[in-house]
Amino acid sequence: MQINFVKSEIPDEGTLAIGTTESEDLTGHLEQLDKKTKGSIARALKAARFTGAKAQVVEILAPGGLDLDRLLVIGLGKADDFKTETAETLGSSAVARLLTSGEKAATLLLQLPKGSKVDEAEAAARVAQGASLRSYRFDLYRTTQKKTDKPTLAKVSIGVDDPAAAKKAWRGPEAVANAVAFARDLVTEPPNVLFPEEFVKRARKLEDLGVEIEAIGEKEMTKLGMGALLGVGQGSERETQLLVMQWKGARDRNAQPIAFVGKGVTFDTGGISIKPAAGMDAMKYDMGGAAAVIGLMHALAGRKAKANVIGICGLVENMPDGNAQRPGDVVKSMSGQTIEVLNTDAEGRLVLADALWYCQNRFKPKFMVDLATLTGAIRISLGLDIAGLFSNNDELAERLTAAGKAEGEELWRMPMGERYDRMIDSPIADMKNIGGQFGGSITAAQFIQRFVNKVPWAHLDIAGTAWAEEARGSTPKGATGFGIRLLNRLVADNYEG
Ligand code: BES
Ligand code: MN
Ligand code: ZN
Repeated sequence: MQINFVKSEIPDEGTLAIGTTESEDLTGHLEQLDKKTKGSIARALKAARFTGAKAQVVEILAPGGLDLDRLLVIGLGKADDFKTETAETLGSSAVARLLTSGEKAATLLLQLPKGSKVDEAEAAARVAQGASLRSYRFDLYRTTQKKTDKPTLAKVSIGVDDPAAAKKAWRGPEAVANAVAFARDLVTEPPNVLFPEEFVKRARKLEDLGVEIEAIGEKEMTKLGMGALLGVGQGSERETQLLVMQWKGARDRNAQPIAFVGKGVTFDTGGISIKPAAGMDAMKYDMGGAAAVIGLMHALAGRKAKANVIGICGLVENMPDGNAQRPGDVVKSMSGQTIEVLNTDAEGRLVLADALWYCQNRFKPKFMVDLATLTGAIRISLGLDIAGLFSNNDELAERLTAAGKAEGEELWRMPMGERYDRMIDSPIADMKNIGGQFGGSITAAQFIQRFVNKVPWAHLDIAGTAWAEEARGSTPKGATGFGIRLLNRLVADNYEG
């Protein structure tokens, strides 16, 4: 979708969307339009019981006295609560309503509440980001789609006092929105198309942005002693891959980097501990952590972030097979620690064990954050809107939480500790890969922590947030790209310049 910034004026024709906070009477553009229509806008809003509550939408078709085809009035919530990010609602709500409406273009006008200290250019950029993110579609495999189901909206013009300033403010968020779309594509692709080597192939596209890409295959992993990661892929026809991405944007290209590590199980059948048939197809998104990491690298390189950043993805398919690993097998991880694999469906932690160990050994990063669709238990604990945060470092945890709040990708910190750690001790090896019935997300995090040395580390369990059953805000139904915006902000607010 094409997005541009224009002078804030009421257009003569076409579709207009106006975003407004709650207020007693009509102000600004709405007041002007109401006069022109002899009070019918106010009447329509009253009839629809419009208060300006967040994401409330009133659609007025062919308003009398105007040449507009359609006027959308969109609520932005209470004026006192208005923040830069609130503006996103105008873009996302307008696009949600208009995408397949038949309209090809729309003008969006944001009415900042009186006396608001929010920067108009930045707010306009958020309108654009909401519009761009919400317009995401994945229609690659449809060949018989009806014309009326196809998207029509191709152009959005956002009205502001200073279009040049808004255009400049849009550069960063635009790179992030493009990166989120890239990641959503990877997550949505079916598992017969997107397997580990294909993921690596798609990662090579980031070379155009200046990201260095390396792929480590099974032969080299064997030499490195990555028995945990290799064990997961043992039953698959597809070759396991470790993807290593480097973005060197800091003034000193050799300065100590920060690192992000993703779980990339391109399909998780459960292996020999096979999952039930119902809903197993969802396990194509078991690479949502890896998609977030590649999306983050895409965003950082796209906006030329002034930081040195490593992105690592453990890419593997978990299949049952004559050669698959068995429940009861003992494998040796790259760290030297041995693992009794009691459930082959607890494979994500095995992937992260070797990926994190490799990352900290080779790159000696300032910190590591891993993302993984790791446990069903986190969905039980926190539901589907908030991801679990586990960390050995309070400062990193607080920075992540704050970044999540600002981007609408919320995190909730979970407890860790010795009592949980004990639950994964094994009678015959250094540890087992499951902890028992209770605290499943926490024992999974404790397992991962056994592969992290003194370095500050955080683990985000995104099993509940990587895929959305319903559209919400800037996220259409389906793959969310959760984590990219949050981590991009973590980097922007704390680790650049
Ligand atoms: N990929 C799953 C976790 C998952 C579940 C992600 C639902 C997204 C939606 C993971 O590999 C898994 O199977 N975890 C098991 C662990 C158990 C065997 C200890 C689980 O959560 O049931
Ligand atoms: Mn599993
Ligand atoms: Zn899994």
